[in-house]
Amino acid sequence: MVGVLSACAVAGALELGKWAHAYVEKHRMDGRLSVRTALIDMYSKCGYIDRALEVFESTPVRNLVLWTSMINGLAINGSGNKAVEFFDRMVNDDDIKPDAIVLISVLSACSHGGLIDEGRRLFDELKSRYNLIPRMEHYGCMVDLLGRAGRLDEALELIRRVPSEPSVILWRTLLGACRAHRNVQIGELAMKEIQRREPRHHGDHVLLSNIYASVGRWEDVAYVRRAMKRMGVSKEPGCSIIEVDGQIYSFVVEDATHRHSEEVRAALERMTRRLREAGHVPDTREVVARVEGGEEEREEKLVHHSEKVAVAFGLIRTVPGTTLRVVKNLRVCVDCHAAMKLISEIYGREIVLRDRNRFHHFKSGSCSCDDYW
Ligand SMILES: *[C@@H]1O[C@H](CO)[C@@H](O)[C@H](O)[C@H]1NC(C)=O
Repeated sequence: MVGVLSACAVAGALELGKWAHAYVEKHRMDGRLSVRTALIDMYSKCGYIDRALEVFESTPVRNLVLWTSMINGLAINGSGNKAVEFFDRMVNDDDIKPDAIVLISVLSACSHGGLIDEGRRLFDELKSRYNLIPRMEHYGCMVDLLGRAGRLDEALELIRRVPSEPSVILWRTLLGACRAHRNVQIGELAMKEIQRREPRHHGDHVLLSNIYASVGRWEDVAYVRRAMKRMGVSKEPGCSIIEVDGQIYSFVVEDATHRHSEEVRAALERMTRRLREAGHVPDTREVVARVEGGEEEREEKLVHHSEKVAVAFGLIRTVPGTTLRVVKNLRVCVDCHAAMKLISEIYGREIVLRDRNRFHHFKSGSCSCDDYW
């Protein structure tokens, strides 16, 4: 059952997860800490943090793994303060000595929540109070934290202070921050470091070209695109899944073979029209795939991003007011993000979208990530 629950967590399959919860209760397996930990993880990753908290609070004796699961859940929900509060509770009330893993969770909560001071405190305490040696992941959280806050110089400084060879992930995190803060200079530097280690990673090229696009350097965008072609860097296709009536439907970008395709196409057209009427202007800055194509072609591409297709499908297949829960394999793009906000407003729907990095809760026209992801 731990395996079932963890599969539900990965797929974001809440309905099946709830069924599994009922099953473990009925068969009296829910007293075990491993099962409870899996339940907390499943509910958190399905975007149902309140249920995760219920399971957590109703557990009489908690161990480190259970705490970690809860703190991690709060982190991916974007509840930074709460995660730190729980961490302190764990250390002070339950007298549990934290390990490297739980510190990754709480540091990542700090970065999602923009809690610079807390993050620095915990990063210091990692060595001074808990006698641990910072791992690459801890540095990664700190780079993310500083990068998010726009302190790109400090983030770069920290990477250079890593005692061993900094992992490519640190540079990639910095590159992501440069995209958000439109910093071409440090972005190029980070890209150079990445290239030395992993030249063919698709996401990096996309990020770099997005940085150029964000400042209107179209020639550089085209240059990156050509380099990708030359090096044979291929794009991982976007894929989104949505659960409707206990069934999982997956949508791959531009996949016309889907058996719901006609129905989906019509729904997508209607949704796109409504978005336009509500004033949505497609933001094509991040479309690298066809920079040489015209504006229309670029807009067309955006319409077919898998998360939009999944949401369009969800809108027609669920009763009004139902929350839509979508899981995507890549980072959500700027245009889809803006569209989701608007959809949540004009259709009066909550949308919970888990992308490669985190959750986005769209509600009444805004998103829980505060437009940084
Ligand atoms: C989870 O995130 C949502 C959206 O930001 C927020 O409203 C809610 O309070 C958070 N839940 C917890 C338990 O922190």
